[in-house]
Amino acid sequence: MNENDKMGAREPIIKIEGLSKSFNGQVVLDNIDLDIFEGETIVILGASGSGKTVMLNLLAGLLEPDSGHIFVDNEEVTAFTSDRQWDKLRLKLGFLFQGAALYDSMTIAENISFAMEQHLTQTDERIREVVEQKLRAVELEGTEGKMPAELSGGMQKRAALARAIALDPRIIIYDEPTTGLDPILAKNISELIVRLQRELRVTSIVVTHDLICASIIADRLALLYKGKFLFVGTMEELRSSENEYVREFLESSSLRR
Ligand SMILES: Nc1ncnc2c1ncn2[C@@H]1O[C@H](COP(=O)(O)OP(=O)(O)OP(=O)(O)O)[C@@H](O)[C@H]1O
Ligand SMILES: [Mg+2]
Repeated sequence: MNENDKMGAREPIIKIEGLSKSFNGQVVLDNIDLDIFEGETIVILGASGSGKTVMLNLLAGLLEPDSGHIFVDNEEVTAFTSDRQWDKLRLKLGFLFQGAALYDSMTIAENISFAMEQHLTQTDERIREVVEQKLRAVELEGTEGKMPAELSGGMQKRAALARAIALDPRIIIYDEPTTGLDPILAKNISELIVRLQRELRVTSIVVTHDLICASIIADRLALLYKGKFLFVGTMEELRSSENEYVREFLESSSLRR
């Protein structure tokens, strides 16, 4: 059965075609293709330096590809010619960056409402409501007035997640959401990702090294290796893969946590 049959021949919400990116002659992504379907959570795996963040940055328009195409909702974002087009698309995208990504000098409430104030005209009352609702979604009620430094690492991740969902994105992109967290918090965040997917019906793209997180959240996984997707499929298929590198990757990752 091919991928399309399995997905019921659904139209992808994101389509990546022949995407390539090099830096100073070093090929990072080499003609990759990937379809991402509405409502699924796809996990991107790969060794450090394999190009996972580069791929996310291409999706978010923070980098330009050398060649290839990216379509989001049937719109070719790689053909965008103005910032306005990107601004409009970014309303559909929530981004949880690698590392802590809160603005240190703003309160939690200000961090969450920042994008709303930039992109939408809202009353103060409405903004307060949304901030409260998003904080509830990540179980951080009552932290509106706190500064990021007053929160633990795990709470900061959750606050950053509340900010990523502030504009009700249809697609959430997560770069290493559990890195640096203890196993219990990592499991917490993983369960939160699943809950957001179910409750908000979002499509999620998650880069992670954390196979426990991946096994909780992934509908499908894609493994980047030497600029290509060496494997795309379910966790069960990944675990039963006979590919030598896939096996090596699984063994080294399971030792890590
Ligand atoms: N702006 C840039 N300029 C030059 N080289 C870059 C740039 N961004 C990324 N690279 C290179 O591209 C390669 C892939 O980097 P990337 O950040 O995507 O790795 P990664 O898979 O996210 O790794 P990690 O798991 O460590 O986060 C690396 O060799 C990196 O040095
Ligand atoms: Mg990275």
